[in-house]
Amino acid sequence: MCGIIGYIGKRKATEVIMNGLKRVEYRGYDSAGISIIENGKLVTIKKSGRLNELNKLIDHNKYSSNIGFGHTRWATHGEPNDINAHPHLDNSGKVSIIHNGIIENYSALKSLLTKQGYHFKTETDTEVLAVYIGSIYEKNKNIAEAVRLALADVTGTFGLLVIAEDEPDKIIGARRGSPLVIGIGKNEFILASDQTAIVDYTKHVIYPDDNEMVILTKDSYVIKNLDNININKEITTIEFELNQLEKGGFPHFMLKEIFEQGKTIENATRGRIILATGDVRLGGLTEVADRLRTAKRIILTACGTSWHSALIGKYMIETLARIPVDVEYASEFRYRDPVIYPEDFVVAISQSGETADTLEAIREAKRKGCTTLGIVNVVGSSIARATDAGVYLHAGPEIGVASTKAFTSQVTVLLLFALYIGRMRSVSQTEGIRIIKEIQEIPKKIEKILQQADKIKEIAKRYSKSRNFLYLGRGYNYPIALEGALKLKEISYVHAEGYPAAEMKHGPLALIDDEMPVVFLATKDEVFDKLRSNLEEVKARGGKIIAIATENNEGNELIKNKVEHMIYIPETLPIVMPILSIIPLQLLAYYIADELGRDIDNPRHLAKSVTVE
Ligand code: AGP
Repeated sequence: MCGIIGYIGKRKATEVIMNGLKRVEYRGYDSAGISIIENGKLVTIKKSGRLNELNKLIDHNKYSSNIGFGHTRWATHGEPNDINAHPHLDNSGKVSIIHNGIIENYSALKSLLTKQGYHFKTETDTEVLAVYIGSIYEKNKNIAEAVRLALADVTGTFGLLVIAEDEPDKIIGARRGSPLVIGIGKNEFILASDQTAIVDYTKHVIYPDDNEMVILTKDSYVIKNLDNININKEITTIEFELNQLEKGGFPHFMLKEIFEQGKTIENATRGRIILATGDVRLGGLTEVADRLRTAKRIILTACGTSWHSALIGKYMIETLARIPVDVEYASEFRYRDPVIYPEDFVVAISQSGETADTLEAIREAKRKGCTTLGIVNVVGSSIARATDAGVYLHAGPEIGVASTKAFTSQVTVLLLFALYIGRMRSVSQTEGIRIIKEIQEIPKKIEKILQQADKIKEIAKRYSKSRNFLYLGRGYNYPIALEGALKLKEISYVHAEGYPAAEMKHGPLALIDDEMPVVFLATKDEVFDKLRSNLEEVKARGGKIIAIATENNEGNELIKNKVEHMIYIPETLPIVMPILSIIPLQLLAYYIADELGRDIDNPRHLAKSVTVE
């Protein structure tokens, strides 16, 4: 939520900032703004709406400043209008801040400051912090110290940048609970909420930890904690390439990311599967391998799409490793004082590695003394660093707000994880080899599904006017039904429900009429015949059925004349099937949203990584 970018160096700040804001716009897009110090004066420009609205207001020829920052907002406090847009200024108008996160004690700070005679123009928590920093700065005339002292009194989360007109050669950054990355260039620095805004200029980065701050001039950086102790941090290298941040000829990032899935699955499995022995090698888990072998319980925790991966992971781990698995919404888990034993494993699943609830769930688990693992895409992200061990997805940057390639990579890594433990316990070599053979076939099979994009587009056109959809599946396809429905909801704004198919008769069947499209995940597995009965029940009530079926399944003959459309996907083992069966549903959601003219990569009210709770 909220993208931030700051620059100090030799380049034109407005260009670096606007370029960076384009890269982080997927984090929030209600409003945007910048502050620069131009000829010793603080200049702030901000505007509600998308980034191009702000860009129209900036006269790029007029400014030559080499220091400043920009923000793109996902509103938490105060409606997304011009005035509430960041940056926010202190009462002197000389200190400017941008902020990602929530200042929880802003009301208390606001009344204190109001009593002292300070005033406020906006409804935001961030302005309160700006005024508070300004009130300290007034007295001590040291902006870094004013920020440090103010933050000591703050409860809540922040990824924060501050500049002051009277110290025009300095940017201050600080973080707690919200991401912040420092890009280290030659006589220049970039500070951003994510690496994607930095990689245009440098691949060398430092990740500050919570309660740390950085003071940057154009040729020096000092990192310290909020207790004023200087800290040395390792410089690491960003792994991905610039072209991964472009659409590569596709109209949207989401479509590009759907089409990348053959490659991203290869990346998730490369060097990790050993066909000859049916084993899995997960280097990141070596240190905890012995404990995993004897684990009594695994808890998977995540949000949204990643939570759907977790549900599939549960089935996989219980099947292959025979260890009981609980799946928890991170937002519930963190607050309900869960029972956790020291020998438990709590595994966070997250694309961004920054989701606030998932991060806090992991911290809660750690406090309770168990081992924590991360299955994360973004290297160096907060969850990756907060967990004891883990496995990266290596899916590359995912820009579309709707998660697609990260989901299939999560499910793939969970399958590897399940097989990794399974082989240490009861899974035979023959079974291991059988599964690995199928994993190796996935990229080819994904390509086959993607070749049907035009057919799926036609189906999407036919149903794009429907206002409700149902998605039904059983076994491994039940979480796929949930995920298919979520994809449609979030990018097309069409109401959709995912359900375990057999639950229909306990209530939701009442929704069926001849206007209701029902997507059935009717792939070949041990519950196919049961699902067939559920399909008959929907058909008998007039539902318009779109079936996702497996090629070469004799059972298809029994459903063919009951459904409006069949989309065939290649045969595989049921445990591998969810990696394939989601793909037609991603395409269906994409083409319906496109038909409706939705803003697919940046759907309304949403943001890519949810760094507030
Ligand atoms: C997916 O399409 C969503 N936009 C969302 O549900 C997402 O999966 C969720 O916010 C979790 O994000 P994470 O994987 O980055 O933790």
